[in-house]
Formats: sequence, structure tokens, C-alpha cells
Amino acid sequence: MTSALPDGSTPSPAPAGGCPFLHDATSLTRKPTLDTQPGAPVELDDRGIYRIHDFHAARDVLRSEDTRQAGFGADMVTQLSALKHQPVLYTEGREHHEMRRDTARYFTPTAVAAYHPFIAGLADRLVGDLIRRGEGNLDDLSLTMAVQVAAQVVGLTDSVLPGLQRRIMAFVEGDGDSEPGFVNTPHWTYRFHQMMDVPLLYTLDVKPAIRARRRARKDDLISHLIDKDYSDLEILTECLTYGTAGMVTTREFISVAAWHLLRHPDLRAEYVHGTETERHAILHEILRLEPVVNTIYRRTQADMTVGGQHIPQGSVVAVNVTNTNADPAMAGADAAQLCPARPLPRGVQAPVLSFGDGVHRCPGAFLAIRESDVLLRRLLIWNDLRIVQEPAVTYNEVIKGYELRNFRIALG
Ligand code: HEM
Repeated sequence: MTSALPDGSTPSPAPAGGCPFLHDATSLTRKPTLDTQPGAPVELDDRGIYRIHDFHAARDVLRSEDTRQAGFGADMVTQLSALKHQPVLYTEGREHHEMRRDTARYFTPTAVAAYHPFIAGLADRLVGDLIRRGEGNLDDLSLTMAVQVAAQVVGLTDSVLPGLQRRIMAFVEGDGDSEPGFVNTPHWTYRFHQMMDVPLLYTLDVKPAIRARRRARKDDLISHLIDKDYSDLEILTECLTYGTAGMVTTREFISVAAWHLLRHPDLRAEYVHGTETERHAILHEILRLEPVVNTIYRRTQADMTVGGQHIPQGSVVAVNVTNTNADPAMAGADAAQLCPARPLPRGVQAPVLSFGDGVHRCPGAFLAIRESDVLLRRLLIWNDLRIVQEPAVTYNEVIKGYELRNFRIALG
């Protein structure tokens, strides 16, 4: 067994038989409409989608070579003939492997360490602004952090007007649904062509970045894509992929982690005074319980048997990450509770499937935890930081995740 906390660390005296942290935290974002229990058998719903709730079946699907991406509008994007190079999220096989191999260097611990001065400086500025104002929206802080950090990796650093974060958010806002086969509301790729925001993002942010890098190459994703002969449209779609995959997700995670830590003073104390490894363990456990992407879709390329269920070739499989992460057969009888000292089976990483698994597993996982930690620690170290208004929880069906808004916090 492995533990979310490092070997030899003892968070506090353990009450008999339970989590050593003295609290009863459970998920704050689980959908009230999710009736199926964690670990339940594979179910075939009336839309013909196979829904997975048990951890082992989910991991088998995500690691299988007989499945391909079906989420985030994949069916539509992969049909766009103007894209010779598809965004990484929708690519498969050798091409995908090469893309991941070529871009892995932007996400190694060494690369992430190089961003540290930027991340720390930005966090200091955001906390400084909050101190001056006395009160603010945590979801605004987390958005600025997530967008500005990912923008460094991508190379979106030459915008001609402020507002990059608004333009990125506009892309995922609205009432669309990216579930395969969903037709009743406008598809996000429909909006891709229709909305004003994407041309604005291109003109104000992406094109100036491309122009600057054609003059002088830098060590970032856009420079790499230029080296690989990507067209401007292909670079734009990759930027949108990173915008949604890297910026929108990290924003929500920072907010939900702050929410848990502010509600539970003992956990907050352990977090603020812990080593980096201990702090990351607490963040991983929060992410296990609060997966930002709650459903990951795949389409089967061959007949498969998963969790004892036969799934024919061409079927859509939906991994319910909220449930697979809380499967008691994997995470224990108290899987619905937040416990950073929880033992996990060997080979299961602490956030479980919150960063996905298999070939599409999130490349930005380490960066996301690192930047979240830098901001959260600087915020939570202030003893008089408190919640003024808990956030409203809604669900975004384009990215299949929760959204926390109007989360008011104050100092003093
Ligand atoms: C807490 C924050 C984050 C969460 C919860 C998250 C979650 C995920 C998940 C679940 C996937 C897999 C999707 C699938 O298999 O269908 C994914 C993929 C991806 N993520 Fe993240 N992510 C986060 C942060 C980031 C960051 C900071 C970046 C980059 C700056 C990033 C870039 C990507 C990319 C490019 C992919 C596609 C990889 C591929 O298809 O090969 N993510 N992310």
C-alpha cells in the first residue's frame, strides 16, 4: 500500500480507526443528480452510453489501446479538414506519442522550477492586492493565476490588450454540452466558428505571439509549433486546448482547495506548516475528492470487456471520475471522506484519476499542483483570512466540471 502522505510523516495523533485529521470533510461539488454510487457496476444508459463508476474498470478503459478520445467535442474537431495537425487532446497513436514526447520538456520538475520566480511574483502581487483591498473574489485570483501561468508555458505573452483571461473563459461559457451525441444545444465547435471571442483571442493574443516568435524563437509551446510547421489556425486551436485543459481546470482546483482549507482549520494548519511534500499530498487528496473534470469520454475501437460488461466496438464509454475516485474497493470504506493520510493500493497515484490516465494523462499535473500550492500557501498563511461568502456551485457541461463563483474572502 502507498499513502498520500510521505513515509514517516505523522500529521497528528490518530483517533482510533479513522483519519488522523480531525474533521468530517466530504465532497463540496458532487452533483446532487448523481444517484449511482461509487464502485457500482458498468451501466448502459438510455442514450446508449456505457457509464463506468468503478476504479479498475475505468483505468482499464483509459489505458486501453482500443479506445480513443471522445470528449470535448472530439467527433466534431476531428472532422475539421482545415486542421492537418489536430490538437494534442484529439490525436492518437504515433503522432500523439511524438507530440507528447516533444512537449514533455515544458512540464518536467526542472522546467516548472524555472517558472517559479514568475509564479511566486504573481502570487505575491495577487495577495498584496487582496491585503490592500481587504476583500475580494477568490475565483478572480485563481483565474488570474491559472491563466497567467499556463500562458507562460504556451507562449501567450505578447497580447496587445489586457483581458486574455476573459477571452479564454468566453470560450467555455454558455449552456452547451460536450457529451458525444448531444444535439439539443449549440455544440462548442459550432460556437468556435460563430463567436466573436475566438477571432478576438486570435487577433489580440495568438497572432501577436506567433509574430513575435517568428522574429525571435523562445522556449515555449508556440515556438515549438512554429518549428513543426503548424498553421496559424492550428496554433490557435492548440492554444484553445491548453486554455481549457490547463487554465480553466486549475482555476477551479485552486478555488475548491481554498474552500476546503478555509472550512477546516486543522487541515489548514497542517497544510500551512507542512513540508512541500505534505502540502502536495493534501492538495492531491482534495483533488481526488473534487475532480475538476468529472467525466472522461472514450470511443471503443474494438469489442471490449470491461468490469465484466461486454462493450461493442464503436460505443461511447463515460468514466465518472467522481465515483471512480471514491470507489471503496480502491480507496477504502471511508473513500467519500477527505483524508490525506489515506493508504492507496500500490500503483495508484494520490489524485487517482483526476488527471486522467493512459496516454492522454494530463501533462500539466505537476505544474498545476505547484502553482496552486504557491498561491494557496501565501494566502492561507494569513491567520485572519476568512470566508465572507461561500461560492455558488454550478456545473459546466462543456468541460464537464464544477464552477465555483462569487467566492468572497476577506483579510482582517
Ligand atoms: C488541476 C488542474 C488540472 C486538471 C484537473 C487537469 C485534468 C486533466 C485531465 C483529466 C486530462 C485528461 C483528459 C482525457 O483523458 O480525456 C487532462 C489532459 C490535458 N491537460 Fe490537464 N489538468 C489540469 C491542469 C493542466 C495544466 C496546468 C496544463 C498545461 C498548462 C494542462 C494541459 C493538459 C493537456 C495539454 C491535456 C491533453 C493531453 C493529451 O491529450 O495528451 N492541464 N488534464
